[in-house]
Amino acid sequence: MNTRDTLKINKKGRLEIGGCDGAELAHRFGTPLYVFDKTRFEVLATAMLGAATAAYGGEAEIAYASKAFACEAVFYIANSLGLSADVVSAGELYLALRAGIPADKVYFHGNAKTDAEIDYAVKSGVGAIVLEGLDEAERISAAAKRYSAKQGVIVRVNPGVEAHTHSFVQTANTDSKFGVQLTEPSLLGLIKAIVADERLEFLGLHTHIGSQIFEVEPYLVTAEKMIGLIKKLDESGIFVKKLNLGGGFGVKYTEADPDMDVAEYGAFISAIASRVTTLCKAYNVKRPALVFEPGRALVADAGVTLYTVCAVKSIEGVRKYVSVDGGMFENPRYALYGARYETTLVERAAAPKTDIVTVAGKCCESGDLITVDARLQQAEVGDLLAVFTTGAYNYSMASNYNLNGVPPVVMVEDGKADYIVKPQTLEDIARNNVVPDRLKRNK
Ligand code: LLP
Repeated sequence: MNTRDTLKINKKGRLEIGGCDGAELAHRFGTPLYVFDKTRFEVLATAMLGAATAAYGGEAEIAYASKAFACEAVFYIANSLGLSADVVSAGELYLALRAGIPADKVYFHGNAKTDAEIDYAVKSGVGAIVLEGLDEAERISAAAKRYSAKQGVIVRVNPGVEAHTHSFVQTANTDSKFGVQLTEPSLLGLIKAIVADERLEFLGLHTHIGSQIFEVEPYLVTAEKMIGLIKKLDESGIFVKKLNLGGGFGVKYTEADPDMDVAEYGAFISAIASRVTTLCKAYNVKRPALVFEPGRALVADAGVTLYTVCAVKSIEGVRKYVSVDGGMFENPRYALYGARYETTLVERAAAPKTDIVTVAGKCCESGDLITVDARLQQAEVGDLLAVFTTGAYNYSMASNYNLNGVPPVVMVEDGKADYIVKPQTLEDIARNNVVPDRLKRNK
């Protein structure tokens, strides 16, 4: 638990988030419940934008990687804080625009964009489509022609830098589906083709080396490689207006992770921004505008999930399972990445954590765990249990597995709580099911 003003133990010895008593939230909104601490998001976003601007000047930008938590209210807040947005699907684009993010502040990503998505992005006037190959450039150009538009594009480059993180969230290894390899001989040709296409405007370069990264070094290596490419393009008379170095900043989920908070993110961003400035001077190229694209680091710590304990099972000498009313349908990260979280009992948050438990979900498979070997107070059936740091890649990766409803999200601030995502009802779950008449006639 990364304690702070908006996440603490109150006088009743209960967990309090955004000035709201955790137990009262659970009683009012039910469990499982995603709770989103608006202030925490604002503090992190403001700090990152501030650090980027301080280190780089007004030419620095923070684009919120909305895949971490794509939600209209969060897009809305991000916009009010001056962030731009990274979207990767028609759905994310739709919600970003609906929330009022100006289209020209949207980056549309994806290694496999559909024609419909390209069409929608061009029609909406997104600032840049981040593309990964010549075929895609041609498809975007054709769409731009249909809409009599000139579409800004950015080329995603894979710098071949290995970041020390889970292999599923590494993106810039040589063996990756993302981006054009920096060493790919056709890269220069692709950029020249874009520059030559009157329907496309070449804006710059993008790279994203992975997620949950705690070391700044891979970013510095990446910056150097990218400025090298910028120099090469400069020699061909091609100017790179924007350099997007992606996201990936790590988050402290448990005590085993390094401290990551406002100061650390600021230091990361400043170090990268300063390196870019130094390299541009050394290579004698004009400094591009610099974009960072964090998702997790902006929202993970703003999230807490509340559950009700439904069963406790001790296997002598083996393990104690505390099973809750959630699971992999609302947090698949243990099942996917072996993710770990810290937990507490909401109503006995001040009591010592004398137990080591595995928090299990309610889905019908053994791998449906929320976290393993977590320290917890002595839990009983009916207790409320909180899992911390769930603001990123939980709601956004939720499913209806076992036809469980995706839990609602409540935003808390100064003791007030409001839905930002309403609960799915049984009717919502059944909504798209159809029994064709033909089946009924055959009965
Ligand atoms: N930009 C691009 C192009 C990305 O692919 C990603 C994340 C980001 C930015 C944001 O990365 P972040 O700052 O959030 O690390 N579901 C996984 C994480 C997948 C990340 C995918 N791409 C998880 O739950 O750990």
